[in-house]
Amino acid sequence: MGCGWGELLLRVLTSAPQARGRGVDSASASIDRARQQALTRGLLNRATFDAMPGAETQARPADAVICIGASQIWGPPVEDAQPLDYGAALRALRALVLTGGRLVYGEAVWSATPHPAAAAPLAGRDDEYLSTDALREQIRGAGFEVVDDAQASVQEWDVFEAGYRDRFTRWLEAHDAHHPAAGQVRRRYEEQRVAYPPARPGELHVAIRELRGGFLRDGVLACIHEQRCFVPAWVVNSRSPSCRVR
Ligand SMILES: C[S@@+](CC[C@H](N)C(=O)[O-])C[C@H]1O[C@@H](n2cnc3c(N)ncnc32)[C@H](O)[C@@H]1O
Repeated sequence: MGCGWGELLLRVLTSAPQARGRGVDSASASIDRARQQALTRGLLNRATFDAMPGAETQARPADAVICIGASQIWGPPVEDAQPLDYGAALRALRALVLTGGRLVYGEAVWSATPHPAAAAPLAGRDDEYLSTDALREQIRGAGFEVVDDAQASVQEWDVFEAGYRDRFTRWLEAHDAHHPAAGQVRRRYEEQRVAYPPARPGELHVAIRELRGGFLRDGVLACIHEQRCFVPAWVVNSRSPSCRVR
């Protein structure tokens, strides 16, 4: 849900040849790219991608669901600068996971009360994100059990942000300074740079949690590193016993 380019889903399908997957995202350009990548990797017979609002997908429960950084699907629009509605997201996700199935859920958490300068480029409020403990309560309240969890490190944060900005610098290197789009690319680079205050990176984390819905049977799970996404080492290396593809 909110699959973006579908990179993680495609890697899951590569690792689990018996699995079929569906990616949903409201950004049609991302979905186009996801389909193109599925074609390139020979996965189009097992992967479908739909460009549509996530809240409008019909509840067809699956063995495993991935939702990383996309809880806003079930809450107020990001532009409203309201607190993120984790509860609504987790309840909706619970309806999409078979009992005993798995959810890989990644979302932002505050690890400390944010400095106003850290919150300003986001919604500008302390309560936009929950603390880890409050998130755990919401997880249990929605009917999930935490099987494993991890938090992105400051280094992972830095690498992600550097990679994000890098696409702008690469574009600027490759194009003439007087290119009609150069001013806009420079502005986007600058906005991104200012929005990530390196002096306070410890406050905002993205936590990835592997959750089990209900208790009846094991589901299928594959967790693979998604480039440009804060997926921590236990996912990348699949060292965690609960993270094996079965
Ligand atoms: C922070 S990105 C995360 C993308 C991807 N899950 C990842 O980890 O790289 C949030 C994604 O949610 C998608 N999204 C936002 N609102 C949505 C909605 N209402 N329905 C479906 N997708 C939505 C965005 O287009 C974007 O791809």
